[in-house]
Amino acid sequence: MRLTEGQAGARVLAFGGYQPARVVTNDELAQTVETNDEWIRARVGIASRRIAGPDETVADMAVQAGGKALAGSGLSSADIDLVIVATCTPEVQIPNTAATVARRLGIMAPGAYDMNAACAGFCYALANAADAVRTGTARNVLVIGAEKLSQWVDWTDRSTCIIFADGAGAAVVGPVADPADAPGIGPVLWGSDGDLADKIYIKDRNSFIFQEGQAVFRWATTALAPLALRACEKAGVAPSELAAFVPHQANLRIIEAIARKLGAPQAIVANDIINAGNTSSASIPLALSRMIERGEVGSGAHALLVGFGAGMCYAAQVITVP
Ligand code: UT7
Repeated sequence: MRLTEGQAGARVLAFGGYQPARVVTNDELAQTVETNDEWIRARVGIASRRIAGPDETVADMAVQAGGKALAGSGLSSADIDLVIVATCTPEVQIPNTAATVARRLGIMAPGAYDMNAACAGFCYALANAADAVRTGTARNVLVIGAEKLSQWVDWTDRSTCIIFADGAGAAVVGPVADPADAPGIGPVLWGSDGDLADKIYIKDRNSFIFQEGQAVFRWATTALAPLALRACEKAGVAPSELAAFVPHQANLRIIEAIARKLGAPQAIVANDIINAGNTSSASIPLALSRMIERGEVGSGAHALLVGFGAGMCYAAQVITVP
């Protein structure tokens, strides 16, 4: 038996993001639940979020983001061997989202699977994609995080309906052929804590997202910074060398607390939550694609990604910005 022929490393070739058109402000939500703009901005950091139209699906959003990343990568659909969609809100359980998205993007017969690591999903999928490219099981991989959380939110529950939102973000992962070149996707530091599985969950198909906000907040502000530092260590990149810190966009106070502990004052910190809300597995690629579009991080810079959420699943890796 032979092994597949691998590559020296894997890198992100391009990112792409998509947000639905409808903007929902805090004031709009305050018309239906007892809340106000000041509380939401101060406690969570959100000013507005985007909500998908009634007929707009997770696959629709994934196609938009994936199409942009594919166009930006300079590859064609024929170059993609594997499509991974990270989502915890698929339209249906069967068939998976990835196969539908692949077909709509003209990617013929790729390996295609959905994966659920909640808000850590994109970082898990990126690690899987990098491994597939390095081991030679795929030449190039399209990785997408896409969510329609608005479908799973109780719009009368002010503790969750002000937070969660819809959107998609994507990356094309390809090879670093020359071992002399720097690896573009560093080793992942991932894990989970099933003891805390009751802190964020959806009980059954007729239920909505439940979150014990304070418990998750405490966990996120204490457990994640050491894990993020270990991801830097694994990649051989000092925090002082990071140009960007892109954590899951759950709460601006969580983001700022981890950033303070990182010791990377020069790194620009993603704050996409302000106008995107919490889009779970879409939040990291969405935030980073917009930072790149705005010219806030340049090609070749190091960015630290940290995904975390229900499960409590987490994953962190340092990447080179395409
Ligand atoms: O994406 C997956 C990972 N998720 C996270 O990382 C989420 C982590 N948790 C959080 O971000 C925060 O805990 C929340 C944003 C969910 C909540 O913020 P908090 O500062 O922890 O608020 P709290 O739940 O402790 O509530 C404080 C007060 C309560 O009132 P009393 O009991 O003090 O009178 C709540 O009833 O604020 C009240 N409250 C609100 N008031 C106005 C809760 N929600 C709202 C609201 N508007 N929307």
